[in-house]
Amino acid sequence: MSYLHSTTPMPANQRIKIGLLKQSELEEADRIVRIAFGTFLGVPNPAEFMGDRNFLKPRWQSRHVKALAAREDGRLIGSNIVTQWGSFGFFGPLTVRPEYWDRGVAQRLLETTMEIFDEWDLRHTGLFTFAHSPKHVGLYQKFGYWPRYLTAIMARTPEDNPASQDKSIHKLLSKLTRPERERAIEACRNLTHRIDNGLDLSGEIQTVLAQRTGEVVLTFTRGVLDGFAVCLNGAGSEGGEKVCYIKFAAARGGSGAGERFDKLLDACERLALSRQATLEAGVNLAREDAYRRMRSRGFRVTMQGVAMQRPHVDGFNRAGAYVIDDWR
Ligand SMILES: CC(C)(COP(=O)(O)OP(=O)(O)OC[C@H]1O[C@@H](n2cnc3c(N)ncnc32)[C@H](O)[C@@H]1OP(=O)(O)O)[C@@H](O)C(=O)NCCC(=O)NCCS
Repeated sequence: MSYLHSTTPMPANQRIKIGLLKQSELEEADRIVRIAFGTFLGVPNPAEFMGDRNFLKPRWQSRHVKALAAREDGRLIGSNIVTQWGSFGFFGPLTVRPEYWDRGVAQRLLETTMEIFDEWDLRHTGLFTFAHSPKHVGLYQKFGYWPRYLTAIMARTPEDNPASQDKSIHKLLSKLTRPERERAIEACRNLTHRIDNGLDLSGEIQTVLAQRTGEVVLTFTRGVLDGFAVCLNGAGSEGGEKVCYIKFAAARGGSGAGERFDKLLDACERLALSRQATLEAGVNLAREDAYRRMRSRGFRVTMQGVAMQRPHVDGFNRAGAYVIDDWR
């Protein structure tokens, strides 16, 4: 694997080497992620950015993810996380220690990221970034990415509604028997494959089960899977203690998809309520009806960025795709 110790000649600092992030570097990489974003966003105490949420360690431990490190003379100066969802891949968080900004470090990490994408033989790839930043958009354009629709990160604190008549069936993957789980994961794969050829969240689903970093919500009609949501919550997870972060959710397409999407959100809200957490979910604005439905049920946009994609085609960011994700 050529990317393990890439030494491709670059005009920038030749002492910088790219390799896989080591377990012993996780804590420092996590600190750099917080300081880099905190500094860019100008928060008062950058090291506390993102609170108890952890976007690094759970991903580092996942089999469908590769974590890259940039080092100068052995010292960690940046990292990037590369994730595969079947035929689709995305990267981030990409961060560089602020004193090394504008010296080509991110570009070294991205060259190796592109090699990994090539090796995975993906149909398309993407990223989420700051739409207002010429540097960010320009950096990714150098690697063939094009800005498309905005992605809105939305939040809603679910309310207890004992009078709710909603009796729709939903299940939690962790409560199923092993054969039931395997059948459910297969059904999830078929559901996403119909939304976008080869899109497969199995790695993400297996990770939640193995790490106990959340729950997978499944909704059905007469035994047929209508939708599923990978919800991350709890100590050490991407959601942390207070947020139930829907990293990915999808409702079965075709006639009635909008209603199936609503039912899936109902089920996610019940999960968040049971965990006393706020629900957070990102949706690309190309998925027009999905976005409108979330807004009309009280989700508020807390931040927005832009989805950049390579190649410059819809993928599953299109009207009629009832999908939640944000590629952060
Ligand atoms: C964003 C970040 C990773 C970039 O890292 P970096 O090592 O400074 O980036 P590089 O030096 O490799 O590349 C910078 C490139 O941005 C582009 N760029 C910068 N300013 C630009 C502008 N005004 N217009 C267009 N492109 C611009 C250029 O292509 C430039 O490279 P070049 O001068 O060699 O052509 C780093 O600033 C960081 O950690 N920021 C905080 C966290 C963050 O925002 N992460 C990314 C989230 S999507």
